[in-house]
Amino acid sequence: MALVDLNDAVISQVRQAADLVEFVSQVTPLKLAGKSHKGLCPFHREKTPSFHVDRAKGLFYCFGCGVGGDVFKFLTLTERFTFPEAVEHVAARVGIELPRKRRTARESDKDDLLEVLDEASEAFHQALQWTPNPADDYLHNRGVPEAIVKKYGFGYAPDSWDYIFTRLARKHGEKKLEASGLIQPRKSGGGFYDRFRNRLIIPIHSETGALVGFGGRTLDGSDPKYLNSPESEIFNKSRLLYNLHRSKDAMRRIDRAILVEGYFDAIAIDHAGVPGVVASMGTSLTTGQASLMRRYARRVVIAYDGDDAGKNATLRAAPILLAAGIDVQALDLMGEKDPDSLVQKFGVDRFLEVLGNATDIFQFALKLWAADPGQLTGREKSERVEMFVPLLSAVADPVVRNDAAQRIADAFRLEFDTVWSRVRGRSQTVVTERQASAPGSTAEKMLLTAAIQGRLPQEVAGRLREEYFGDPACQTLFSIIKTGLLSGDPLDFAAIATHLRGEAELTLLSELTLSEDVDDATLQKIDENLRPMERHFLERRQLEIQRDMVEAQKRGDAQRLDELAAEKHDLSRISSRLK
Ligand code: UTP
Ligand code: MN
Repeated sequence: MALVDLNDAVISQVRQAADLVEFVSQVTPLKLAGKSHKGLCPFHREKTPSFHVDRAKGLFYCFGCGVGGDVFKFLTLTERFTFPEAVEHVAARVGIELPRKRRTARESDKDDLLEVLDEASEAFHQALQWTPNPADDYLHNRGVPEAIVKKYGFGYAPDSWDYIFTRLARKHGEKKLEASGLIQPRKSGGGFYDRFRNRLIIPIHSETGALVGFGGRTLDGSDPKYLNSPESEIFNKSRLLYNLHRSKDAMRRIDRAILVEGYFDAIAIDHAGVPGVVASMGTSLTTGQASLMRRYARRVVIAYDGDDAGKNATLRAAPILLAAGIDVQALDLMGEKDPDSLVQKFGVDRFLEVLGNATDIFQFALKLWAADPGQLTGREKSERVEMFVPLLSAVADPVVRNDAAQRIADAFRLEFDTVWSRVRGRSQTVVTERQASAPGSTAEKMLLTAAIQGRLPQEVAGRLREEYFGDPACQTLFSIIKTGLLSGDPLDFAAIATHLRGEAELTLLSELTLSEDVDDATLQKIDENLRPMERHFLERRQLEIQRDMVEAQKRGDAQRLDELAAEKHDLSRISSRLK
């Protein structure tokens, strides 16, 4: 198996060559009915057929039990094949020889960058062996054992302008080295210099375990404390979680993740054997990171720093996780600075104890914001209740939202309606719009179905953004078909199915493909469905930007302020169209 090269191109080639009807027919008889084949579902007992197969698109879906997918999924379910086994099996049946090694130009560009990073990592390892060595001294002082240095692949970027440059430029060329983020052009004159200088190097991996970038911790107190690889095609921080490749299996198995801020927090917990920890690499969690987590676990315990900044960051991350359909808890570090220092000082058992005492996010917020309601003036109470609104409106489940509002009302000794009216009262539309974009909502599904069936007008496709979708599966599916939609060409289903890694997305694609055609009456009403999604996104994002601007202002972070101002401007264009 290891010898064959299962790249996306060959997987979709095999998928395209396979006749799904033929494979299914060996398990259950099918009859052509309208645009699809129909039969009794092999995965649940039924008397009338609700199992549909679309031969041309190579997808099946059962409207009875909700199982769906492509030929590979079908075989993993009926034959208990692993995915690669299923691909090999089908390839053999349709007579495609799986290639040993063949790559597209873009893939090989990407591979080149990954190779450069691997070699750089090796060079950083070597430098860590030098004596004297500031990084090694630092690790000693910090009490980091050799086992951690090895396991997490630490390195040292020497205090030199050209350590990496002289080692790698001749072999790989300046252009590649620059694209990999390891060197940058001099501000004046020509030439390049190393990005990472006199820093402890921590390698960062993608979900699949490829080394995609570095975090470099200062050793001499220079700013920033952590310098990371610059954003690029392979290093997209808003879609990366530190340690995910080590944690993802455990996350899926126990359906829980622990979310920390820092590299060292993740390392301390992971190395102590607590499963499922990932780091957001900073405090502003992104929707991309939230949906990445949701792919593996439905529950996330936030274990950010114990200070006020960490608590505030917890309460800012929570709505983003809630909106991704995640059940959110938070823990209290009992005055300790961060999980790393807690484990260092008191051992992992203390961390497990604290983890066991994690509370749901509303209880966490109540402890902070409603600690002494008797002392508050009416106006102060009003401000406090207002602080709960982002959390409350991010909860999709109406029962959970209601229950939380009740607890908030009780804590402040207010009537339920007084609190509830804030969620609704801010604007009558918040709640209804939330429902309109609640997970799996009809509006989202309708838009996607129309898109998949090639009935979505170009103008609408151009307006739709990934962030409008509340349901993570809808969001991922849309992000994958977006480019295809805008090109105006028919969608390539074999390629789309290949890009879908999560179970939920492939099932959704099958369901929408085999659903009834979106009719003209519905198409006429597309704008009515899209506008609330746009408005809901705008409201949420504008609030976030406002808050981030205040923070950036406080920090004096001019670059971030510029970025936020640009985004605000961008949003105002959408907002003026909505009026
Ligand atoms: P912290 O400042 O809490 O870092 O930032 P830490 O992990 O506790 O650092 P140590 O223990 O002092 O070494 C939390 C995380 O935010 C990101 C890093 O991922 C860091 O681990 N960060 C922080 C940056 O990317 N850049 C910075 O300048 C600071
Ligand atoms: Mn920290």
